Amino acid sequence: MTLGVPLAPPSAGATQPIAALAAPPAIRVRHLWHRFGRFDVLRDVSFDVHAGEIFGFIGPNGAGKTTTIRVMATLLEPMAGRVEVDGLDVTIDPESVRKIIGYMPDHAGVYERVTVREYLEFFADAYRVPTAGTTYAVVDAVMELTDLTKLRDKLVITMSKGMKQRLQLARTLLHDPKVLILDEPASDLDPRARIEIRDLLVELRAMGKTIFLSSHILTELADVCTSVAILERGRLVVAGPIHDIARRLELAAAQPAVPVQAPYAGPPHAAGQALAQGNPFAPPTHAAPTPHVIEIPKRRAKLKVMAPLEAVAATLQVLPNVATVGPGPGGTIIVTYMGDDQSLAGVVRALVMNGIAVVGVEPERNELERIFLEVTKGEVQ
Ligand SMILES: Nc1ncnc2c1ncn2[C@@H]1O[C@H](COP(=O)(O)OP(=O)(O)OP(=O)(O)O)[C@@H](O)[C@H]1O
Ligand SMILES: [Mg+2]
Repeated sequence: MTLGVPLAPPSAGATQPIAALAAPPAIRVRHLWHRFGRFDVLRDVSFDVHAGEIFGFIGPNGAGKTTTIRVMATLLEPMAGRVEVDGLDVTIDPESVRKIIGYMPDHAGVYERVTVREYLEFFADAYRVPTAGTTYAVVDAVMELTDLTKLRDKLVITMSKGMKQRLQLARTLLHDPKVLILDEPASDLDPRARIEIRDLLVELRAMGKTIFLSSHILTELADVCTSVAILERGRLVVAGPIHDIARRLELAAAQPAVPVQAPYAGPPHAAGQALAQGNPFAPPTHAAPTPHVIEIPKRRAKLKVMAPLEAVAATLQVLPNVATVGPGPGGTIIVTYMGDDQSLAGVVRALVMNGIAVVGVEPERNELERIFLEVTKGEVQ
């Protein structure tokens, strides 16, 4: 389905022309500083959001997420630094940026004494979305996409919070924006409404949109985000693809003396140097190539087997990629191993071949929660 305007390609593929490969990131944030009164709310924040990502912006209350988002949405001028959306500077060319973003503020109200359809038609007119005659094909398409068609004649005031949130998201889609910027889109929603919003985000990503969303609820993002940035007290603690960060964490833990650097392409910056001290995720402060560290990360899996721990340990200790075997919760066994799913499959194979029945295998999930706890200090401002 298209919403009237051609959708952006999902991502730059191998067959795309070189110009497309060299396209700017969907959002580029560089050395962003902001201050309210005498209080530095954002301190040298830099990260990239690549086209086609669902990018989670995570941080505790007061970390500066909304402030960053308001700059991206052209509603707040930063004190210093630069933000670009699809290569357009938000301070220099806010009009053009507004055309390509769909912004959903946190806790924004909806007009309540209108129906769903009237609400969306009003905003379609406000956004000057092209309509064919008097029919609002775009409104129909957006209602279909957001599952609001059945509710089209419902008064907004009678809708649940989850449905209102969905309506807000629908509103941001009317002008078919390339980049969605959503401030806490799932806050205050029950689990079902949250899952529905999440599914919708996945669908929008498949349509080629880039989605940037903030949250302080980790589990709401873990399954859906491709990359994250974690903000604490106005400072960026870490940014990048979740698996990369998890791997870097594991490497840093395994070899604390070896500098492990984030894949950051930004210029050197004095403030970044202070941040970089002791922080393996901070942007590099000089142009030296990233040290090449070859180290196999450790992973954990929870096994449920029909044998005592000692028998499992005796079987697995001969495997070179198994590091530890120990007791887990509820009679389970925790195995720490090096490598990927192949290694875990090897663990299961070894057990079965030694006559140990394996009832369940649960690789450690939710890397995001682990990352968050490891890289943040629990500081709020
Ligand atoms: N207009 C303002 N004037 C003064 N201080 C402000 C203003 N807006 C935000 N702040 C302060 O800036 C800090 C960052 O606020 P911000 O809303 O960006 O945080 P947040 O990460 O979005 O938090 P939350 O998770 O609660 O939404 C907070 O300490 C807040 O009190
Ligand atoms: Mg906020």
